[in-house]
Amino acid sequence: MNKNVIITGHSKGIGKCIVDKLLETENFSITGISRTVVGNIKIREISCDLSNINESKKLCRMLSDMDAHILILNAGANVIKPAESYSLEEIAEIEILNFISPSLLIKTFLPKLIKNKGHVIVIGSYSGLEVKKWNNYYGAAKAGLHHLTRNLFEQYRNSGLKTTLIIPDIVNSGFYSKSEVNPVNDPIFSIQPEELGKLVLELLENATDYIPFEIVVRPQRFRLDKKLPKPD
Ligand SMILES: NC(=O)c1ccc[n+]([C@@H]2O[C@H](COP(=O)([O-])OP(=O)(O)OC[C@H]3O[C@@H](n4cnc5c(N)ncnc54)[C@H](OP(=O)(O)O)[C@@H]3O)[C@@H](O)[C@H]2O)c1
Repeated sequence: MNKNVIITGHSKGIGKCIVDKLLETENFSITGISRTVVGNIKIREISCDLSNINESKKLCRMLSDMDAHILILNAGANVIKPAESYSLEEIAEIEILNFISPSLLIKTFLPKLIKNKGHVIVIGSYSGLEVKKWNNYYGAAKAGLHHLTRNLFEQYRNSGLKTTLIIPDIVNSGFYSKSEVNPVNDPIFSIQPEELGKLVLELLENATDYIPFEIVVRPQRFRLDKKLPKPD
């Protein structure tokens, strides 16, 4: 029997690589949730803006009866800048996208995930671990998500629910499209999103008796490139 996977942020970057990897096996029926519908006919796609609380609640109500074996909470975004330069709307959207919507989806699927002794995989962020200049609202939202994920494991481990928190440092994806810096396109300086796709498939296909509960993934070397100003 195929396992039902719900994944947020499937349209590009890490989420797309996870979907591509899972589809290689034919063991999973995938529902992808992003704003963009990419036209992948091998999965069910749902368009939802997870930074909008009303859209997220509507989505949860719509999916509340769906059976679920695996929930992959991956969607996320940020614009890296000083705390005082965000608008109130931007802050609310960052917190809703990176913390509140994942919380609503956990609550929605928890009964089915427990019944199926399923697996919740959360893509956190190194920004949720370190306190650094310009790591403000997004880092705080991710830190909250890390805490909730750790709590889920403690609360439901005896019910058989598996929980894995993957904490990547710099990944070479479109995540930096609205920031002043870019990751260096070299695996020594930035994690390739395909590697995280492989990691998730490995977790799901080669289950161990122990739980790989918290996995921090960092590139060997550190560098971010400053973007050149656009020509007039
Ligand atoms: N790249 C990094 O350096 C890095 C480091 C640590 C952690 N992470 C985390 O990794 C996860 C994936 O990011 P990525 O690097 O793959 O970035 P990405 O290439 O920008 O992809 C982000 C994904 O999230 C979806 N998404 C963004 N805003 C959304 C919204 N408002 N509603 C619904 N879906 C939304 C995007 O789909 P649409 O645009 O179609 O909506 C896309 O599928 C995020 O949680 C991010 O915080 C990234």
